[in-house]
Amino acid sequence: MFNTNEIREFQQLETPFYYYDLGLLKKTLDIYTANLKKYSYHAHYALKANANDRILSIVKSYGLGADCVSGNEVKLALESGFDPSMVVYAGVGKSDKEIRAALAGNIFSFNCESVPELEIIDSIASSMGKVASVSLRINPDIDAHTHKYISTGRSQDKFGISTWMFQDVIETINKCKNLQLVGLHFHVGSQITDMKVFEMLAKRVNEIQSWFFEKGIDIQNINLGGGLGIDYENPESNPISDFNTYFSIFNKGLEVRPGQNIHFEPGRTIVAQCGTLISRVLYVKFGRGKKFAILDAGMNDLIRPALYQAKHKIENLTSTGRIMKYDVVGPVCESSDRFSKGTLLPETKRGDIMAIRSAGAYGQVMAMKYNQRDLAPEYYSE
Ligand code: LLP
Repeated sequence: MFNTNEIREFQQLETPFYYYDLGLLKKTLDIYTANLKKYSYHAHYALKANANDRILSIVKSYGLGADCVSGNEVKLALESGFDPSMVVYAGVGKSDKEIRAALAGNIFSFNCESVPELEIIDSIASSMGKVASVSLRINPDIDAHTHKYISTGRSQDKFGISTWMFQDVIETINKCKNLQLVGLHFHVGSQITDMKVFEMLAKRVNEIQSWFFEKGIDIQNINLGGGLGIDYENPESNPISDFNTYFSIFNKGLEVRPGQNIHFEPGRTIVAQCGTLISRVLYVKFGRGKKFAILDAGMNDLIRPALYQAKHKIENLTSTGRIMKYDVVGPVCESSDRFSKGTLLPETKRGDIMAIRSAGAYGQVMAMKYNQRDLAPEYYSE
């Protein structure tokens, strides 16, 4: 993936850093938006996946809206020039201050996750002389068959409103004069690779929206969230997710009512494969029956392996030696600061440049300064 000029450049730079291939980002967006257009669907990019300014400006240039989960994300989306009428805002714990700012920004929809939240948004909207557009984030009780920490649509998860609460929700909306119901929202998890999950979701959405229609409630917008997975094992041969199959599942399975708009919130599939964490080997040391390759990047730079046992492909860009097994670890004082176990790599030595692939989503945005470490900067290629 990286050419010799790039590798030479990496060797000149202080490590670790994130490296973004903007060409791949654009290619991914080309294919994503072509598929969206086939069915006249709408998309809001999930800022939480990566909110770097250059990435946001490219995503925006493709006509996507923004999916936000905090007041600061809403603020960033608006400052970055996303059209407020294409900004949605989800999250189980929106603070009064965040709600006020989003109301002032005239966003398209608050994706509301509970009855008390609806009541608070109504009272704040009333105090500001506004009417808040709200969608109901539904918990459809679907197992996304992904890591438990990124499953969000099962009945035991904190997200969304359970179906048994619907009657209460309707009564709340009817009494809240400063709320306008504009849609239903779903997001059942992330890194979903079992396409049956999306078939199931479409089926549940049909059942759920029927319940509202039978009560005479018109649902103008259905938002199906994000969640489509990427190929962490083969980023080179499979850099772009199968958007065609993904959207055709909804096109086939979803009952779309006349005038209804269908929305999506992609995060990972847009930005994951264009980002790589570039690092240097500090030391190679022996453990009992194993070798450790100790990098200058750690879990503070990329927390996914430590937090979700995520596997990112690791490459040694500067060695052509014979293949050996390494546990690739970071410098942080935590045993979970390990990127991989028993990975086959060409013989690795101090100073080698290592690439940790598919790190564009939930990589740099989740970085922290634990151990008082510096935050890794970013570089871009066209
Ligand atoms: N919409 C909502 C309401 C979400 O909560 C998320 C992600 C998305 C859309 C975008 O989902 P995506 O297309 O990226 O799967 N840090 C974890 C992932 C957390 C996902 C949180 N929500 C990881 O590194 O795997």
